[in-house]
Amino acid sequence: MSRTRYALVGTGSRAQMYLGAMADEHSDVAELVAWSDTNPGRLDWYEERFRGTALGTPVRFESDALREIVREHRIDRVIVTTPDFTHADLAVAALEAGADAIVEKPLTTTEEGIRRISEAAQASGRSVTVTFNYRYSPRNSALRRVLQSGEIGEVTSVHFEWVLDTAHGADYFRRWHRDKANSGGLLIHKSSHHFDLVNWWLRDAPTRVYASGGLRFYGAENAEKRGLGERPERGSSDSPLRDAFSLDLRADEQLRGLYYEQERHDGYLRDRDVFDPGITIEDNLALIVDYLSGATMTYSLNAHSPWEGYTVAVNGTAGRAELTVIERGAVLLDSDGKTIVDPSARPEGVVDESGRPVSEKLVVQRHFEPAREVEIPAGTGGHGGGDAQLLRDVFVGGGEDELARAASWTDGVRSISVGLAGNRSLEEGRPIRTDELGLGPAAEVLLEGAR
Ligand SMILES: NC(=O)c1ccc[n+]([C@@H]2O[C@H](COP(=O)([O-])OP(=O)(O)OC[C@H]3O[C@@H](n4cnc5c(N)ncnc54)[C@H](O)[C@@H]3O)[C@@H](O)[C@H]2O)c1
Repeated sequence: MSRTRYALVGTGSRAQMYLGAMADEHSDVAELVAWSDTNPGRLDWYEERFRGTALGTPVRFESDALREIVREHRIDRVIVTTPDFTHADLAVAALEAGADAIVEKPLTTTEEGIRRISEAAQASGRSVTVTFNYRYSPRNSALRRVLQSGEIGEVTSVHFEWVLDTAHGADYFRRWHRDKANSGGLLIHKSSHHFDLVNWWLRDAPTRVYASGGLRFYGAENAEKRGLGERPERGSSDSPLRDAFSLDLRADEQLRGLYYEQERHDGYLRDRDVFDPGITIEDNLALIVDYLSGATMTYSLNAHSPWEGYTVAVNGTAGRAELTVIERGAVLLDSDGKTIVDPSARPEGVVDESGRPVSEKLVVQRHFEPAREVEIPAGTGGHGGGDAQLLRDVFVGGGEDELARAASWTDGVRSISVGLAGNRSLEEGRPIRTDELGLGPAAEVLLEGAR
């Protein structure tokens, strides 16, 4: 059987999961024919890392030449793992040249991006897949199972709070994400995962969004208000100004090899100070979202919490379900002031494969009945086994899944429509209906299939 021919664009950290799959467990069905990165040092790094595996030596190309590469090398599918603002151009090029596009979330950052991708998909007849790995976490699947079973009746409202800590949350303020033009802000870059979860949990579609928020912790103005004083230019230095917010790329083998040692090619610094001037994304966000079914969501995102995780409460006509997840109990400091993670910070939690403490609890309570805890199956591997299932869906596909976790193009559009409407709401100070967005042919699928 001939293998499906792939090209991949953007060999940063996210690409690793796809490259690893084509080098190993899915090498029988997927062949990486060509790959591209604007930084040749990152291609060298991965080439070395996967030497001797089934990945072989793919052809290198400039991403501007994606169309020609797809045609010349008869590429079937293009995987896009570049920064968010580049997704639309690359997906359109792949589709127009006759390949399917597999795009990391978020699908794109703008209304125009959706319009262009949907026009190219319609004209070419090729498919677009957005990969939403959070759906595959056993705990998130467990909540979907509860809601799908009808145990709490019809959903009337959702309360969803997500907190990012001063290690992971801070990272969005060090690199390309901190410019809204690159990432669309956290409402697009990060929350599209969360909005997709709610759309999928509820099998519903968003119709109206009101958003409020701002940059209240990171950035130069906030640092000045809190009297933080002079700051280091970057984390990977021996500056005495370094502190718990400084990331030293030299201390981690992958960060050093993929970024620090490759700066000479493109000057990209991945460890800039989170209290720099010029940061244009928000770090505190609150939304009210209405859904087609009549349900409402209150949502909040905070990017400077002392712990990381989320709580989601779903109210229904027959009861309520509550999922509480602690992904990291605390970011602590060692005696040198460097950030460390103490596995005992949340002793009640279990530890994941990277040694991080995790605790998760799903409780369902029907009216006039005691609460019961729902067992969450333990998975192995990244995201509790979710990554492996996601990769099977991407590379092999076709399997039956009663939870419908494989995301469609519609799901990609639907999830970022909340962030796009939210961003417009932040600018205009009023609720924005999702049908006000200029999505082109994609507008037709926005509400399709929702209950
Ligand atoms: N699903 C998830 O949980 C998850 C996690 C991390 C990242 N992501 C997504 O993956 C994508 C990549 O994120 P990352 O963290 O790997 O970023 P990154 O900065 O580490 O990697 C991006 C790579 O793309 C390259 N690049 C930039 N513009 C390019 C172009 N025009 N042509 C070719 N290469 C180009 C950069 O040199 C870099 O190597 C983003 O869209 C992000 O939202 C998803």
